[in-house]
Amino acid sequence: MWTKDSLCELVREKLGDYKFIAVSNREPYVHTYSGHQVICRRPPSGLTAALDPVMQACGGIWIAHGSGDADRRTVDRNNKVSVPPEKPSYSLKRIWLNKEEEDGYYNGFSNKALWPLCHIVYTRPAFDEPDWNTYKKVNNIFAESVLEEVGTGKAFVFVQDYHLALLPKLLKEANSNIITAHFWHIPWPNEEAFRICPWQNEILEGLLSNDVMGFHIRYHCNNFMETVGQALEARVDYERYEVSYGGKRTAVRPFPISVDFEELDREAQGAEVTAEVDRLKNCLGLDDEVIGMGIDRFDYTKGIPDRFKAIDGFLAKYPEYQGKVIFIQAGVASRVLIQEYQSLNKEIDSLVEKINWKYAKGRWKPIICLRENLPQVSLMALRRMADFCVVSSLHDGMNLVAKEYVASRFDEGGVLILSPFTGASRELTEALLVNPYATDQFAEAIKKAIEMPEAEKQKRMKKMREVVRENNIYKWAADIISELLKFEVGV
Ligand code: G6P
Repeated sequence: MWTKDSLCELVREKLGDYKFIAVSNREPYVHTYSGHQVICRRPPSGLTAALDPVMQACGGIWIAHGSGDADRRTVDRNNKVSVPPEKPSYSLKRIWLNKEEEDGYYNGFSNKALWPLCHIVYTRPAFDEPDWNTYKKVNNIFAESVLEEVGTGKAFVFVQDYHLALLPKLLKEANSNIITAHFWHIPWPNEEAFRICPWQNEILEGLLSNDVMGFHIRYHCNNFMETVGQALEARVDYERYEVSYGGKRTAVRPFPISVDFEELDREAQGAEVTAEVDRLKNCLGLDDEVIGMGIDRFDYTKGIPDRFKAIDGFLAKYPEYQGKVIFIQAGVASRVLIQEYQSLNKEIDSLVEKINWKYAKGRWKPIICLRENLPQVSLMALRRMADFCVVSSLHDGMNLVAKEYVASRFDEGGVLILSPFTGASRELTEALLVNPYATDQFAEAIKKAIEMPEAEKQKRMKKMREVVRENNIYKWAADIISELLKFEVGV
């Protein structure tokens, strides 16, 4: 089984001559002002939650966009700050973008074009040429920052996600000693869906400069290879899962991302979490109701309105549960400058109001919405309190909320209701799988979760915990690095 230590050893032994650099848009620690004080917080992002323990194990440099209003105040003159603040183990190097750059690259091409293009949730992507030009410009800014660290030396650059599709090509052209692995944290759609992107060839050429290209599941690898086969004069080899393009080979592989199981399992058992469970129950006025829970970034891919509709359907069909079940939805608004996200937030608020009005009796109302960036200890308390956890994504590369719930249930209690349209559903087959579009079936799944006998709950949770324990985040990173070593460095 891979651990923090064994990953650390792999990196030291095999990549000793290489600088280790991770690059992503979102930074793992954001400094913001709270009055005159500067506070440091972790953003609500699956990517940063997953990569942070890897970086803590490997050391090195993580380059990301400095998005906090106090970020500039906390870096040194090389734009670096050591993190995590409580136990510095790697260097966070921030790059700065002006408002126009951030808008065109992040809100624009990344989140109005690529995000809806890759998630099949029927939100139309917007392809805007100025946004695309800004995306190219910002990928160059990231490249300069990486090259400033590497010079002409050797480096392993671990590129993250859809914000940086052009970065690998820029790096390889500047320094052939750089080896790159790129992990795409979101789904890759089929070639017919992807080909509507007017700049698909440039994006594919950027990605095919990588030595290793990773997705969560094999299905996304296949979609990617088909897209390449249709768009470019490339040799697509399904035997070896490799693409050759312009004399360069790229290995295409599935690496299901995960969580630090042991750490979550340990944290969940802490006395502060027990105290936080009591505090939250008291504060939210909970007695002995059955508790359902969801934790999400408020994104239209997560199926949040769909789960509320299922709760409505469940309470209407089984009125005996009115007054006895409470659903806690935690999470924060995200990408709020984009119109689709603004509409989603309105829809969520009005649904919660409508459903609560419909069923409220005295102090009891069925849905509590906690729209705050809750600290880790509160999120952990929610996982421990929840008799069932709902992950109802309409489309999701992996979904780490599901794995975090499983890793936190050291008591082997709780039921996971999971959408089959998540990458996680391929591994967590003992969850109650339900199509979030099918409101009636979803309502039945809620009933089933509530009425499931303890022994069955335990059996299912135990199996899921074994899967997550073994396929932890260190295995994810070690598998990517091992593949890179096999493929490119030939060790
Ligand atoms: C997804 C993406 C990540 C992103 C996260 C949060 O998990 O794959 O790249 O960081 O959502 O979104 P945000 O736009 O706030 O970074």
